[in-house]
Amino acid sequence: MLENSCALVLAAGKGTRMHSGDRPKVLAELLGRPMLWYVHRALAPVFEDRVHTVVGHGADLVAAAFPEHKDRFIHQAEQLGTGHALQVAWPRLKALGLRYVVVVNGDTPLLDTASVEKLTERAASSGAAVTFLTISPEGENAYGRVLRDESGAVLGIVEKRDFDQSKHGPEPREVNAGIYCLDMERVAPLLDWLGNSNKAREYYITDLVELAMADQEGVEAVECGSDEGLMGVNTPAELVLAEERLRESIVAGHAASGALIRNPAACRIGPEATIAPGADITGPCEITGQAVLARSCRVEPFCHVIESWLAEGSLVRSFSHLEQAEVGPGCVVGPYARLRTGSVLEEKAKVGNFVEMKKAVLGKGSKASHLTYLGDAEIGAGVNIGAGTITCNYDGRNKHRTVIRDGAFIGSNTALVAPVEIGADALVGAGSTITKNVSPGHLAVTRAKQAEVRKRK
Ligand code: UD1
Ligand code: CA
Repeated sequence: MLENSCALVLAAGKGTRMHSGDRPKVLAELLGRPMLWYVHRALAPVFEDRVHTVVGHGADLVAAAFPEHKDRFIHQAEQLGTGHALQVAWPRLKALGLRYVVVVNGDTPLLDTASVEKLTERAASSGAAVTFLTISPEGENAYGRVLRDESGAVLGIVEKRDFDQSKHGPEPREVNAGIYCLDMERVAPLLDWLGNSNKAREYYITDLVELAMADQEGVEAVECGSDEGLMGVNTPAELVLAEERLRESIVAGHAASGALIRNPAACRIGPEATIAPGADITGPCEITGQAVLARSCRVEPFCHVIESWLAEGSLVRSFSHLEQAEVGPGCVVGPYARLRTGSVLEEKAKVGNFVEMKKAVLGKGSKASHLTYLGDAEIGAGVNIGAGTITCNYDGRNKHRTVIRDGAFIGSNTALVAPVEIGADALVGAGSTITKNVSPGHLAVTRAKQAEVRKRK
């Protein structure tokens, strides 16, 4: 059945209740990845490249965030409802010549592959024209209510705002999760019957249920009880709730596989981070993007590690910020260090407090212990960078490189005006402004001679 099916993600809505301005709701992020990313991730194992996405509001922004999905975007210029989104997508889906389409609301980021498989298996075994997932959450909610008759057969779905006890009877707890499997050939004739005579004046996909029943086509509701993985995210509060569920499960997963996660409630770890068993993390911290933390590395509290690699035995001390950085084995970073894109620390290098690096390599065993900026720099092994050293890499137009060869010693408060090269084992006197290359093994000083003048009485 799965080879005979495709998926359609509905992601064209603005998401007014999210209050995210021009940014469409499906781009709202959980642990550093947009909602839609999670939905695609859940669908990919089942449908591979047969996942289409309806976009509309902020389509350019969605396309920029998902270039790999762009070819399978379907544009819904005006967003007239979930049923309308399906109508707009239908010709593209039909052209695929497949039997089933699984339609998923793009605002269901906690959806997992198992739930999708449960849906498709039931659709295949029941032979229903419309199969959908239901949940029965506790408390107030805005989901579509599932109506059943006394025998338990599904009659339809009524949106909360359209629900009228006098007409529909007592309000059921069972609601629609917004994930459907449609038998395309049998649903096709029903599409033309979707109307918009409801409070929102929208074409609802949910009306397909009642239409299928009226046409004697089978309808199957798959009850998923209190499964929070099917929650829809419409508001900032729901986003936070979903993100928290996700966070807990990611942290628990790493802890179960042997990472030492202290203060787990305060660790925010993104879905793509790799944390090896034996890595030692103390929250609060944030580890996002494709970060890799090796065995026996250690991250102390209040650090943010983005898309960075921490090798075995490396130590990142408190209040450090790393983005696209590589920290080699046995290195020490921080406290209060900032490693920006392209920072590379080779084995046992050390970067101390208030040191910023960008596109810079610090060689094996080299140290920059205090108050330094190293940008566009290549620094060899065994180099000592004194406190207050600045690579002056930017002339107002272009960036230039600084090269410091093995064993060089840069005295404190040195300005290295790039492009410039300091030779191996050279020594730069404290307080110098270096504008010319320094030969290997030589001392360079540019500071003015100290003079003494007797004070006047
Ligand atoms: C929808 C269901 C509701 C269900 C709930 C589950 C309808 C009418 N109602 O309500 O029964 O309980 O999901 O979470 O479907 N979208 C489009 N084009 C449009 C309108 C919406 O692509 O014209 C997309 C949105 O971007 C969103 C998804 O469809 O990702 C669902 O729309 P939303 O407005 O969030 O529907 P709900 O009111 O939550
Ligand atoms: Ca929704």
